[in-house]
Amino acid sequence: MTTSPSPDLARLADPAVRPDPYELLRTLREASPYTDPASGIVVVGRRSDCEAVLRSPKVSSDRQGSGVTTVPQMPNLMNLDAPDHTRLRRLAGKAFKPRLIQQWRPRIEEIVRELLTDIAAAGNTTDIVSAFAYPLPVRVICEMLGVPREDHAVFETWARSIAYTVDPQLVPGELSTEVVREVEVARAGFVDYFGRLIADRKRAPRADILSELISAEEQGDQLTERELIITCILLLVAGHETTANLILNGILGLLRHPEQLRLLRERPELAGAAVEEVLRHDAPAQMVTRIAREPFTIGDVRVTPGTPILVLLAAANRDPEVHRDPDTFDITRGDPGHLGFAAGPHFCLGSVLARLEGGIALDAFARAFVGPRLESGGLHYRPHVAVRGPDRLRVSFEAIRLDAVPAAGAVAGSGVRGE
Ligand code: HEM
Repeated sequence: MTTSPSPDLARLADPAVRPDPYELLRTLREASPYTDPASGIVVVGRRSDCEAVLRSPKVSSDRQGSGVTTVPQMPNLMNLDAPDHTRLRRLAGKAFKPRLIQQWRPRIEEIVRELLTDIAAAGNTTDIVSAFAYPLPVRVICEMLGVPREDHAVFETWARSIAYTVDPQLVPGELSTEVVREVEVARAGFVDYFGRLIADRKRAPRADILSELISAEEQGDQLTERELIITCILLLVAGHETTANLILNGILGLLRHPEQLRLLRERPELAGAAVEEVLRHDAPAQMVTRIAREPFTIGDVRVTPGTPILVLLAAANRDPEVHRDPDTFDITRGDPGHLGFAAGPHFCLGSVLARLEGGIALDAFARAFVGPRLESGGLHYRPHVAVRGPDRLRVSFEAIRLDAVPAAGAVAGSGVRGE
């Protein structure tokens, strides 16, 4: 298993690799499992190894002080272990029941229509990032949490600053004090804001996720004020850039494979399958990290407590042992599940919402955009390694056909899926 010399893990952090990391991910997967000599990180990229690590009770999600986190973390769902994680997940899960999430379908469709209307009014060219893919999840999660419209912009800025905290540190070194300061400012802003919003909702509950979180109760146990605030921040941050990248990677995949775009236009019932294929083929969350808390062996690598482990979800999703012809983008493939939302106890809490938003957005893109084309020089990527996606996706088009997009509430739910 261990090859010599090992592929250069630090290359993942190279911005030049960002547009297409898949050749590097293939070499990392094929060499894995192995220990990266420069960082001491154990790299796993084969599907079976990734799944084994994600489901193992011998690993921890508490990365504090491990060297793979960039900035101090607040104790939230993503970095807690059982039993604290189990308790928090049960309570937060009550606000994220598929039935509650599906009720948002008409409102999400309405927001999509509003965004398309603005795009149509602005001419025959648009930046999908700023005009469509980013505003959609921010508006949706802000409305779900009950954040008024006039505050969405500041929320987006704070959420982007905190997005740094989910990137693993692949190259030893410090983050600039400027970035750490930005994260601190964003956190302080969120804590203050959500503190006030929670006090408001306690006085006057509404039909939103925040009120559900406040009232969530199990055997007399409820989320404390601090847990509520931290969970709200996590929901906003975890569901924002990832969902935007799902939409962006999906639209890019459709533009690069016009026959798949045609197929989706002809068979809109494939929208859900298209979302699954994007999550597999061009995963918005490319990797997650864990820390070994007990000794174990993976392949011929002996992992000792305290060792950081890099789980390459995006490499596992193209493992030829599991997916036939894995580099091909095919919205009809219907393969066994991918690891786009990870697996095990930390399986994405927002997967139902992400699938719902992604399906509505890709369906609307296929129906509404007439003759869409990626503009030359119109694609550029953000520097983030783990949550990877474009920060510019300029598309020109002949027309926007709003009449081809079903009115809000006209489409029945396309089935609810969990892990
Ligand atoms: C396409 C969009 C999304 C992707 C690709 C994605 C991916 C992931 C992944 C890979 C994890 C596991 C992290 C780990 O194991 O360390 C995760 C966890 C999580 N996600 Fe998502 N996510 C998406 C959308 C959302 C949305 C919309 C929300 C909520 C609004 C959300 C909330 C969460 C939360 C709270 C966790 C932590 C769950 C736990 O640790 O128990 N995600 N997500």
